[in-house]
Amino acid sequence: MAQFDTVIRGGTVVTAGDRIACDVAISGGRVIALGTGFSDAAEIIDATGKWVLPGGVDAHVHLSQPSGEGIVMADDFETGTRSAALGGTTTVMPFCLQEKGQSLRAALTAYHAKAAGACHVDVSFHLIISDPTDQVLGQELPALVEDGYTSFKIFMTYEGLALNDREILDVMAVARETGALVMVHAENYDAIRFMTEQLEKAGRTAPRFHATSRPVAVEREATHRAISLAEVVDVPVMIVHVSNREAMEQIRWAQQKGLTVLGETCTQYLVLTEQDLDGLGMEGTKYVCSPPPRDVASQEACWEGLRTGVFNIFSSDHCAFRYDDPQGKLTPKGRTSFRWVPNGIPGVGARLPILFSEGVMTGRIDIERFVALTAANPAKTYGLYPRKGTIAVGSDADIAIWDPTRKLTLTHDMVRDGADYTPYEGRQITGWPVLTMVRGRTIVRDGALVGEKGHGLHLARARSPYAKTPEAKTSA
Ligand code: URP
Ligand code: ZN
Ligand code: ZN
Repeated sequence: MAQFDTVIRGGTVVTAGDRIACDVAISGGRVIALGTGFSDAAEIIDATGKWVLPGGVDAHVHLSQPSGEGIVMADDFETGTRSAALGGTTTVMPFCLQEKGQSLRAALTAYHAKAAGACHVDVSFHLIISDPTDQVLGQELPALVEDGYTSFKIFMTYEGLALNDREILDVMAVARETGALVMVHAENYDAIRFMTEQLEKAGRTAPRFHATSRPVAVEREATHRAISLAEVVDVPVMIVHVSNREAMEQIRWAQQKGLTVLGETCTQYLVLTEQDLDGLGMEGTKYVCSPPPRDVASQEACWEGLRTGVFNIFSSDHCAFRYDDPQGKLTPKGRTSFRWVPNGIPGVGARLPILFSEGVMTGRIDIERFVALTAANPAKTYGLYPRKGTIAVGSDADIAIWDPTRKLTLTHDMVRDGADYTPYEGRQITGWPVLTMVRGRTIVRDGALVGEKGHGLHLARARSPYAKTPEAKTSA
């Protein structure tokens, strides 16, 4: 019997802190040695000239989420995790949405049933709290945090999801008590409703007015308010999917003040702009997401946030709807106004190649920062590190081997999610993950899926190191 199950030989292994030419020895789904000269293995993978990176951790993904009457998400757990794998991501963190009147446990039971046996990569659920009843706040959430659901998202906008300030404070207080991390979608709901009504009255209903209805001030104000509410409760907070400088500056300001405020930005804010919503006919709906993509100066601000550490996480916010589909972007009501176009765009498969190409290959960030933003930091922030997010002895052998010389044109059939388009179609990409491995099993080789669905597992998580632990609270 061979000493190791697999050896990845001859590549450059990169973590968030280092790059080193060495081999990786894997057995039982874990990394068991780093070094040179390993040869006694059942399988040898030649990584000469390649970068051997931790598989990506995408901390912001929506799969099989209820999306309103007549609207169906394009991705279930099978297709969404397939696309993740093809793009070099080995763990995704989708949201389990609590619908109004529903218990969190019931929402989780239904969500687990959808994921069971379907996943190609590992998954771990965040919760979305839409109905913070006494039962939810007093009983369910504390028990679920103990069970490893250690982060929850709240919304400051969207019909049926938006919490008012008092509700936000209540949820944050539970996070303070239990040591959970709150993620906030920061946009001012009333301002968006006001803008939407004004635009509709003026007959401005085309997809591009989605962006007009949600100007930067709407996001900046809500970001500042979320930070202030978190300060009142004395709890850390993660501001997700930040799209522009003014919102980014709120986070920077809070960080400089000593508050534990974390930030995330996403692919769309680096490479898309508001102009993309201005396509022929309904084409602009392909880019409708919230917050909307802004302008080139906002893209630069997001790059700055990634470089300087204001943002510690880079995610996809993958939330796919088919384009040519009445249950997707071309819902009949969406033709009457942008208000009804489902919000969200695909990106779980394109996230890493775009950041690699636009970030690492252009010199905007180095490869260690790439690993930090896309794997190590999300794993750390959400309680999965060092099992995930690094290549170290004892870590899961979740690995993506990248060919930095591969040049290609991105098309939807390369990312293979459940949508019928990618918003990044036609982009020139340099660098591609030629092999993806989850817990020691190769699931993608040379752009082809070779793994079986069902290999991916759900992971319970530890508390975030950023969260206030119940112990810290009592000793403070
Ligand atoms: O438009 C977006 N971002 N849709 C996904 C849901 C969310 O707000 O993250
Ligand atoms: Zn959101
Ligand atoms: Zn989202």
